[in-house]
Amino acid sequence: MSEATSTIYDRAAGDWARNEPVLLSDYTARPFVFRACEPLAGKSVLDLGCGEGYVARTLAAKGTSRILACDISAGMVEKARESEARAPLGIEYMVGDASADLEVSDASFDLAIAVFLFNYLDTTQMLRVMRTAHRALKAGGRFIYTVPHPSLPFLRPMEQPFYFDRGSHGYFSGRNQLFEGRIWRRDGVDVPVRCVHKTFADYFDCLAQAGFTKLPKVVELRATEEHLALDPRFFGPLADQPLHVLFELER
Ligand SMILES: C[S@@+](CC[C@H](N)C(=O)[O-])C[C@H]1O[C@@H](n2cnc3c(N)ncnc32)[C@H](O)[C@@H]1O
Repeated sequence: MSEATSTIYDRAAGDWARNEPVLLSDYTARPFVFRACEPLAGKSVLDLGCGEGYVARTLAAKGTSRILACDISAGMVEKARESEARAPLGIEYMVGDASADLEVSDASFDLAIAVFLFNYLDTTQMLRVMRTAHRALKAGGRFIYTVPHPSLPFLRPMEQPFYFDRGSHGYFSGRNQLFEGRIWRRDGVDVPVRCVHKTFADYFDCLAQAGFTKLPKVVELRATEEHLALDPRFFGPLADQPLHVLFELER
């Protein structure tokens, strides 16, 4: 049986803790999330699968009024709380399963985010999180999330700086199957990541079932020309490949 996600993250929490871009996806995904989340001044934010708080801290620095952040790994939340104790930003952290019934009030947040959470969940669990996000958002509030690109495990070799091992699974036969992977930091350290594979249509089907009725904005994220110029050795193997997808929805 595969190890629990919380155990993996409890163990890797020290390698995730950061206050500046370190991991590949700190360059190729999170800056695009930060931009999509603007404007943030005075906004309330629910961060689902917050990890050690890198994203929450970055958003809080832009003037949010409240951030409630939740993660299933006690080790990651401990790191987040250590950081909050060192440099308080008023972020509330809780240990919890975002796919279970979370204690969040209805219609109370301007923005809900889930940055690389859904790759740890199957479609049933993802639907539960999407329902929570929909319920927690005010009318007109936004839901922003990123996931690994569904094609990535089928396009990339099992090499640095990012891969998932799809084994013998195909794009459709691999639905809801767990692919283990690794993602690298620019300093050469690699950390474990997981992808419970979903097709592109799964995201749209679950969003509709969760109550989101407006078309999402969808951005397929990649290593840009700027990334390739910044560090050709690190980003070069990813040129012209789809890496992540950013979804932006309005309630
Ligand atoms: C790739 S990390 C991303 C963390 C953070 N969002 C970021 O971008 O830095 C995924 C996080 O999801 C958390 N996670 C996985 N399953 C979860 C669940 N059911 N409920 C809450 N958090 C979960 C993991 O513990 C891990 O911290």
